[in-house]
Formats: sequence, structure tokens, C-alpha cells
Amino acid sequence: MLVLGVESSCDETAVALVEDGRVLASAVRSQIERHAPFGGVVPDIAARAHSEVIDLVADEAFRAAGRAPAQVDAVAATRAPGLVNCLVVGLSWGKGFAVARDVPFVAIDHLEAHVHACTLPPPGSDDAGPAVAPPLVALLASGGHTGLYRYDGPGQVRRLGRTVDDAAGEAFDKVAILLGLPYPGGPHVEAAARGGDPRAYAFPRARVKRRKYDVSFSGLKTAVLYGTRGRNQPKEAPLLPGTVVADVAASFQEAVCDLLVDVTVEAALEEGVPAIALGGGVACNGRLRALARERGEAQGLRVVLTPPAYCTDNAAMVAALAAARLRAGAPADDELSRFAEARSELA
Ligand code: KG4
Ligand code: ZN
Repeated sequence: MLVLGVESSCDETAVALVEDGRVLASAVRSQIERHAPFGGVVPDIAARAHSEVIDLVADEAFRAAGRAPAQVDAVAATRAPGLVNCLVVGLSWGKGFAVARDVPFVAIDHLEAHVHACTLPPPGSDDAGPAVAPPLVALLASGGHTGLYRYDGPGQVRRLGRTVDDAAGEAFDKVAILLGLPYPGGPHVEAAARGGDPRAYAFPRARVKRRKYDVSFSGLKTAVLYGTRGRNQPKEAPLLPGTVVADVAASFQEAVCDLLVDVTVEAALEEGVPAIALGGGVACNGRLRALARERGEAQGLRVVLTPPAYCTDNAAMVAALAAARLRAGAPADDELSRFAEARSELA
């Protein structure tokens, strides 16, 4: 079965083709350059950019896969959560394709797709089998969302915890601005942290009372502000003399990774699942990956590090989840009537 996946929830336009468990093509076009001057994603610019390039990205996917549109057996597109104007572009494009070709359509939750991405074999491999079989506990840490999920297979996702304020990626992006690093901040903070001392600053690792796996990043962000500018100083204030950006970046990164890995490992042990997985853009972070492996394996857990290309937004995860749902026999008849929504029940 050849499944076409479409993703347009934020600032990446992506189209992928997945056939019998193998990712034949995963084309992604990022809009980062268009949004960089504004320091964040501008919704109207993003929606327009999706509509400008979606046909080109689809062409690229078909060419890379060596398949033709007439060979597609089912179509899937992200429905929620995300910027509604952006979701509408990919969702309508996918529905139109499915109706025109008279094939089933599947509407996909972006967060479930991120979780499911951990089952994808590495890009370019000939593997058709899943990289891991549920049950597992997945940490999803991206720019818009941070949550901890128990995953038992398609349609069986239960949220165990989440951030009560900023998403982990958002914290990286805001701290990057405080340190004068470019947008999007995550990869730049990671690069700046190399050679820095992760113990230079004792930044907080905040958990939420009585909500076992909930975390908070807003205090950490403030701690970075005060640590670099002085107490109660505005973010426009100059850096304190002697501030070593590498030390701040390393200490901040350590605080985020330490906290996220702790809750993930704890949840897996309490849920009694044999594996943990990392997904979302922040899961590209080398320190997060290393710490998860170290602490997870020390507890006898299998640690699944989703390939970076499937951590950031992509359509392979959308097509793969749809294929798994169709294999499980999920009805796809009414899915054409599902609309784009900013929020997800999983957030
Ligand atoms: O999943 P994603 O591509 O988009 C959504 O938010 O859905 O995640 C983007 C986020 C950004 O906040 C970016 O700064 C962060 O992931 N990120 C990283 C790294 N690479 C991307 N954060 C920390 N370290 C990285 N290497
Ligand atoms: Zn995402």
C-alpha cells in the first residue's frame, strides 16, 4: 500500500510517500529564512508560503520515490494542532488529491504523528519493519509542545505529563535571544554549549507539585535572564561583565535535558513499559539524546532515538501513522469531513 502524507502545521511544507512500512521519500521545505527577520513564525506569511510550494514539494517526493500519483492508495494530512491557516493548505490539498483519485483520506493529529515517528526506520534504510514496537513512553519536545505520552499503538496515546508553560523548544528559542544567538535558537544554543561548563550555573529543574510528570520552564528562563543581567533586570540590559555565553548555554541545556530525561525514565518505570523514545525538534539535541541513552539504559530500558530527520516536522510520520491506522482497519470514510483545528486533545 502506497500512502501519501502531507504536513503543513507550522513553517515546514512536507510531503512523503510510505510504502508497506518503507519511507520512499520525505520531502521537506523549510520557511525559516522567511520568518528569521521577525524572530518567529508569522502565520500569514507561513500559510502563503505553503500554498506557493506544496505542488513543488509533492513533485519532489514523487520523483525521489519513483512513483506516480496514480499509484497512491491512500492520502493523509495533518489536521491539528497548528496554525489553522497553515493546516488548511495541506489538509485541503490532501483531501482534493484523495477525492480526485477516489482513494481513502486519513486526518492525522500532528502530536500523535510525532510520537509514532519513533517507529520509523532510519532514512535511507531498506528496513520495512518498525524500529520499535509499542508499548513505550515517548517524550515529545518541540517548539510548540512538550508532553510525555504512553503509546500503545495508533489511536492509543495517553498523555502522562506536559509543560505547564513554555514548550522546551520555546525555552531554547527564548534563551537564544537572551544570549544574542540567531533564530531558531535550539541548534545555536547547542553549538554555543560545546566547550561550556554545564555546572557553571545552578539553574532550576522545575516540576509541578502533585502533578507527577508536569514540568515548567518559565522559572528557568527567568533564572537565565537574572544570571546574565542581574536580578530584576530587563532583557534589554547588557550582559554582566565576565559572562561566558558557552557556560550559560551549557548550564541551561543541562537543566532542560536533566529534567526531561528524569520524568521520561520515571514514567517508563512506573508504567512498566520496556522502552522510551524521544521525538520533536528538541530531540535533535545531542545532550538530550546522550543523557536519555545513559539514564534509560542504566534502568534496563530500551532507548529509541528517533532519527533527527523524523524529529523535526516531516510528512513521513504522517503517512506512516495513517498506514498503520489503515492496516489496523480504522474507518476512513468520514475523515474528509474533519476540519483543521488549532488545538489537539493530546496537547
Ligand atoms: O518539532 P519542530 O521542528 O517544530 C515544532 O515546533 O513543531 O521543533 C522546533 C523546535 C525549535 O524550538 C528549535 O529551536 C528546537 O526544536 N530545536 C532544538 C534543536 N534543534 C531544533 N532544540 C535544542 N537542540 C537542538 N539541537
Ligand atoms: Zn512538530
